Amino acid sequence: IECLQLSVCSGSTNSDAMDAFRHGYHRALCVTEQQTQGRGRRGRTWASPFAANLCFSLAWRFSVGVAALEGLSLVVGMAIRSALAELGLSNVTLKWPNDVLIELKKLAGVLIEVSGDTSIESQVVIGIGVNVAMPAKMASEIDQPWTDLRSQGLVCTRTDLLIMLLKHLLPALSEFEKRGFAHFKQQWNDADAFKGQVVCVKTLSQSWEGVCQGVNDSGALLLKGASGLQALHGGELSVRLA
Ligand code: BTN
Repeated sequence: IECLQLSVCSGSTNSDAMDAFRHGYHRALCVTEQQTQGRGRRGRTWASPFAANLCFSLAWRFSVGVAALEGLSLVVGMAIRSALAELGLSNVTLKWPNDVLIELKKLAGVLIEVSGDTSIESQVVIGIGVNVAMPAKMASEIDQPWTDLRSQGLVCTRTDLLIMLLKHLLPALSEFEKRGFAHFKQQWNDADAFKGQVVCVKTLSQSWEGVCQGVNDSGALLLKGASGLQALHGGELSVRLA
């Protein structure tokens, strides 16, 4: 890490990490206590009240183009899962493409944004939000089932959590860059919250229903439906129990 930015309040650490690229850094870490414009996938907001979440983003240059990074959000999810396992939480599962769940409730999310891409390298922002101790009043503001570390009985400072996440995340990123997603496929399928279940996958324009068969070598979701086995690519999909 070439640059560390710690702030008390940020709009979004993903924007801070984009700025780090603009300032010429290739590997930067931006962490904050609170976000005023925390963003999630598909235009959602990410509730980030003071000290309740661990919110951080990595600005990361890869020596491959974005086309080779399809499984990145899955690799990040796995790193979060193994960090939490080392902290004592063994019941964490993953929802394709990027949610970290406990008992099907969302504990953490990953937002990946691309800042630059050529065929031989790319600049990517990896934003991670982990619910640590959310105030009870947030319950009505979050539109999906969620949980936090405190209600899972895990007492851990956000600093210790960040250190543990980086310990798992940084080696996973270089392994992924070198070896691609196929190397991680089995590990992801072992953590899949929905494997073998009938799910409905929606994009903005279409939806598919089928039995979830895990992911393939590039990280695409395999759905077995009426018309056979379908590999669903892209990061803008949501999975709901049918
Ligand atoms: C999602 O599940 O929709 C993704 C949530 C990602 C939230 C994190 S918090 C740190 C970083 N900054 C943001 O604005 N978003 C990500």
